[in-house]
Amino acid sequence: MKFKQKCENKIMSGRKILVTSALPYANGDIHIGHLVEYIQTDVWVRFQKLRGENCRYFCADDTHGAAITISARKKGVTEEEFIAEVNEKHRADFAGFGIEFDHYGSTNSPQTRRFCDEIWGKLREAGFVAEREIEQLFDPVEGRFLADRFVRGTCPKCGKTDQYGDSCECGAVYSPTELIDPKSALSGATPELRKAKHLFVEIEKARPFLERWIDESGALQSEIANYLKGQFLGDELWPWDVSRPAPYFGFEIPDSPGNYWYVWFDAPIGYMGSTLEWCEKNGEDFDGWWRDPATEIHHFIGKDITYFHTLFWPATLKTAGFNLPKKVHIHGFLTVDGEKMSKSKGTFVLARTYLNHLDPSYLRYFFSTKTSSRVDDLDLNLEEMELKVNADLVGVVVNLASRTAKFANATGLADVYPEDGGLFAEAAAKSEEIAAAYEERDFGKAIRTILECGYRANRYVEETAPWTLRKEWAALEKDETATPEAREAARRRLQDAVTVSLNLFRQVVVYLAPVLPELAKKTEELLNTKIESWNDAQSPILGTAVNEYRHMMARVPKEGIAAMLEESKETLKPEAETAPVAETPETAAVEGAENAETAAPVGIAPWFDSAEPLAAEPMSETITIDDFLKVDLRVGRIIEAEQVKEARKLLKLKISLGGDETRQVFAGIKAAYPEAEKLIGKLVVFVANLQPRQMKFGLSEGMVVASGPGGPEVFLTFPDEGAKPGMRLH
Ligand code: 2FM
Ligand code: ZN
Repeated sequence: MKFKQKCENKIMSGRKILVTSALPYANGDIHIGHLVEYIQTDVWVRFQKLRGENCRYFCADDTHGAAITISARKKGVTEEEFIAEVNEKHRADFAGFGIEFDHYGSTNSPQTRRFCDEIWGKLREAGFVAEREIEQLFDPVEGRFLADRFVRGTCPKCGKTDQYGDSCECGAVYSPTELIDPKSALSGATPELRKAKHLFVEIEKARPFLERWIDESGALQSEIANYLKGQFLGDELWPWDVSRPAPYFGFEIPDSPGNYWYVWFDAPIGYMGSTLEWCEKNGEDFDGWWRDPATEIHHFIGKDITYFHTLFWPATLKTAGFNLPKKVHIHGFLTVDGEKMSKSKGTFVLARTYLNHLDPSYLRYFFSTKTSSRVDDLDLNLEEMELKVNADLVGVVVNLASRTAKFANATGLADVYPEDGGLFAEAAAKSEEIAAAYEERDFGKAIRTILECGYRANRYVEETAPWTLRKEWAALEKDETATPEAREAARRRLQDAVTVSLNLFRQVVVYLAPVLPELAKKTEELLNTKIESWNDAQSPILGTAVNEYRHMMARVPKEGIAAMLEESKETLKPEAETAPVAETPETAAVEGAENAETAAPVGIAPWFDSAEPLAAEPMSETITIDDFLKVDLRVGRIIEAEQVKEARKLLKLKISLGGDETRQVFAGIKAAYPEAEKLIGKLVVFVANLQPRQMKFGLSEGMVVASGPGGPEVFLTFPDEGAKPGMRLH
């Protein structure tokens, strides 16, 4: 069988692509929550490079702001010393996970400052900068104005003590001047209200541009565009307060002495600073990256910083004459077992702690299987990671090499690719489908397609059984009556089988190389051939020697997971244990809000709702209010809940409608609520006047209201607090 090099698949266009991940704040360690972003960006960049694109990945530490000063002081070092030390640690953590930046800098650099000056000048020229006096709390002991997060006091809404200056655990959002009995989290002193001059960027002036850009550029996921239109563009855009009075660790504003740019002003400009540092080192032209419209800029960020990257940043770039992002790739947060990472449960895992116990390839792979182009949160279930890695990587991918390579040592690979029933060609033809999924950041989809190639390859190995072919050949070698032709034929049968198996293995590894660079490296060593291009999956390698098989990937060690969780519990004190403000104010201020000053200026958690559920089940035809009132919806309380053993889907529930009024229902929610007893006591919405139905297991006298497509994705509807059984829903 012959293979033609498919030149049309090789991207010769040479896209020029500049990629960034959000700059991590220099006030804390890198943890697995951060890695969701850096891993996906790294995978995307490695994919582009493998495709032959001129792609560069820049990042830096985000180093300014009051929180840095406080942390440095706590350590007894200068801010510069503090951020230099953090920079070293961050670089080491990223390198440990195989995240390869073309340059990793710092916002505290002359390069970043240069662009701050330039952009500021352009904003002034365009009439975007306004000066206003604002009242802010001031710590008379520390001699500094206090960011909202550095003020603690009693919530004006619910009376709870020791709450932040901008929001309370009860959900209330307010201004720090509204707090009852406010205290500075730095010194414990009672802050005073003082006036200070601040500089604002009047972003509203960029509205016509922003409206067009959000609608027409294609830079944003549709749920993000909808969110921006719904949450921000419906009202006047608030001017953005971009200055802070001294003392402040940052850059002093040249035409406003005594005032500094707020950390969020210079943070994204750090993308440019880092690019320039790299350009200076490598003799590259900065403008070719940031001003040439042919260059694509791709930002990868988390949903919490959408506001900055999709409103202020494009408006700033436009005003200052730089390239606009071609795409802002926004991802959700990490949850562990469906919950926020928790220090007390040990699920708040630092990058370093993970690396002390587990192979980074596991996390790279697991996160990638869960990465899509949507904004959804990503859940890490460690058992699921263990199962997936063991089944897919060890059981399918590496298995291809481990079961065949040891027999290939004696034969090497054949000079002519043998007949393989079309397997290699079939997987080669998947190239563009897989590439399109990577390009769209749908790594989960790419991996599913790649694994299918792996399954087929494993079937081939099973059927040809190289271990048997090896025995047959060995037997003939010993058999004195065997002819040289018979011996050679046996040797060839083995060589053909391993040539096919190892080429099918390598093809899968080429496709997975962006996710698993270490595996790609080990494969290169085994087969004495570099993996340099995506097109390496198009033609088999032939006639090469095969090296001694070295272990490629171990199964996930259960004890490694346990030790990692244990170490996390020990290293990090749970939040509840951090000292209250009065005892050690600095600790509370810094540890309670690692990224204190950089919280979004709006106190809402963004939500990004996909259009999919509605599209999957389009709206029904219009009904009258009388039609609706025919359905008697009541609040009910689940007072009994048990599995119906004989039924695959059903739970048997007893619903109280208050007093003695109860109903029995059989609900198809077993897969979604496997622990039936946990439902006991919950209020639900109940269709009370549905005609009773005789079922195999008993009478069903109504229905509980739930949403979702079915199976494990069924979500009961719970009434708000205060509702009572028997109340009607109108
Ligand atoms: O949210 C954060 O952690 C910020 N340090 C991200 C900055 S991204 C960019 F704008 F620099
Ligand atoms: Zn409150």
